[in-house]
Amino acid sequence: MQDIIQQLEEKRARARLGGGQKRIDSQHSKGKLTARERISLLLDEGSFEEWDMFVEHRCVDFGMQEETVTGDGVITGHGTINGKLVFVFSQDFTVFGGSLSEYHAKKICKIMDKAVQVGAPVIGLNDSGGARIQEGIDSLAGYAEVFQRNVMASGVVPQISVIMGPCAGGAVYSPAMTDFIFMVRDSSYMFVTGPDVVKTVTNETVTAEELGGAGTHTGKSSVADNAYDNDMEVLTEVRRLVDFLPSSNLESSPVRDSFDDPDRKEKSLNTLVPANANKPYDMMELVEKLVDEGDFFKIQPNFAKNIITGFGRMDGQTVGIVANQPMVLAGCLDIDSSKKAARFVRFCDCFNIPIVTLVDVPGFLPGTSQEYGGIIKHGAKLLYAYAEATVPKVTVITRKAYGGAYDVMASKHLRGDVNYAWPSAEIAVMGSKGAVEIIFRSEIGDEEKIQKRTDEYQARFANPFVAGHRGFIDDVIMPNNTRHRVTTSLRMLKNKQLENPWKKHGNIPL
Ligand code: HXC
Repeated sequence: MQDIIQQLEEKRARARLGGGQKRIDSQHSKGKLTARERISLLLDEGSFEEWDMFVEHRCVDFGMQEETVTGDGVITGHGTINGKLVFVFSQDFTVFGGSLSEYHAKKICKIMDKAVQVGAPVIGLNDSGGARIQEGIDSLAGYAEVFQRNVMASGVVPQISVIMGPCAGGAVYSPAMTDFIFMVRDSSYMFVTGPDVVKTVTNETVTAEELGGAGTHTGKSSVADNAYDNDMEVLTEVRRLVDFLPSSNLESSPVRDSFDDPDRKEKSLNTLVPANANKPYDMMELVEKLVDEGDFFKIQPNFAKNIITGFGRMDGQTVGIVANQPMVLAGCLDIDSSKKAARFVRFCDCFNIPIVTLVDVPGFLPGTSQEYGGIIKHGAKLLYAYAEATVPKVTVITRKAYGGAYDVMASKHLRGDVNYAWPSAEIAVMGSKGAVEIIFRSEIGDEEKIQKRTDEYQARFANPFVAGHRGFIDDVIMPNNTRHRVTTSLRMLKNKQLENPWKKHGNIPL
């Protein structure tokens, strides 16, 4: 018996060494942690239950029969994050560059299947050169098996991807189908294929950083949701995110004890909106004063900064916040902000997370670059997402809610449950000046007349009361009391029941 136990320990020790000490040192020298170190930082201490430690590949091409590594380049299992069950896989770059083989894929699929069965999030720590080249079609098949599961799990359990090294080919397509992607600055990359192949195929010279670094994907492509400085920081933030999320679509939005008074008044909000309607102000101030303890988890903070998206808590319960940001492009809706917010709204709706929408939007951004880029279709994504969402929707219009953008931003007409406006709200088809120049075109040139018409229009429409007369907003509220009013509405909506008609799936304008 003693011998067998010793053999087991030796096997385990071999598996734990992955691709060997030299490669582990090399990983460390790049500022990266090993796959196992990452798991131990991600999960609660001592909670990791490893599966399939002894799996090996069965490839015999290119001398691979001589090169088996126990565990086959990925560590899989389950554990907890602040007590919440999660499934995890962590690719080991020291073993064939973390590349995905037939059996490496089987290990990932096994935990994904179980996560869906038991209703728990899947977290993938990706550090992989893509399909294992020596295995050819077997590794491609393995990827497709993972992709299929990503799609089946979508909307059932939260899926989070962390990119922690150079990820190429299939190693980026699986993350692309998950709910959130986080990267590590200066050590993680995502590309369909790397700079060398790019040079060969298109003759373009580009660095890995420019092609697929964290800056590219959080600021330009919006493939990634955020980036952090190192492995430790990204894993800490993933733990923080998991706390905000339900484990599956069968659970309600999580509630935890809050020590922040739900009725807290914020006097400073009464002066947040400047007297001049053309002056910007920082919507983030309202977001942070609204949520419990000012704790807000930003999603895509470096992309489409004209809209803010992220998670906070109100009265202890997780809510998704969508807010126009007047500091950037006057808070207008354009292609990027529409796509960003639409995806976020859909995530919240998948996972029963109420949505709080803060509106200050002068309309859709006009112009050829937007039209050529398809603002009509992309703007429709956000419209579709809000209209489709059945979770509680509470909306606060702080200032402008003009035109189509008024409709889009969780208006009453898109089944907004509770729609409030601040006294500074202006709910109209468009701003006074633009409106007058259209309906009184013949008077253009007569400055005095135009000014008079503008003042008339301003007095008639630039307020929340016309919408109030129609019941399109439920009340005009004092800014300082916003937290109390929103929290009370969310409490009222706790048992909201609303279902869309049965369908296989809708056809969102992709
Ligand atoms: C097998 C691989 C591998 C792979 C890396 N390695 N990628 N082994 N299959 N795909 C091995 C290397 O041989 C090396 O082994 C070790 O991992 C580390 O690789 P290096 O190149 O030394 O590291 P680095 O310089 O950091 O470069 C990392 C890299 C590069 C950028 C990921 O290795 C690379 O470009 N790899 C190939 C990427 C690729 O084209 N993958 C296939 C994509 S096709 P030793 O023994 O020296 O430690 C695909 C199809 C899916 O994925 C399609 C789905 C839609």
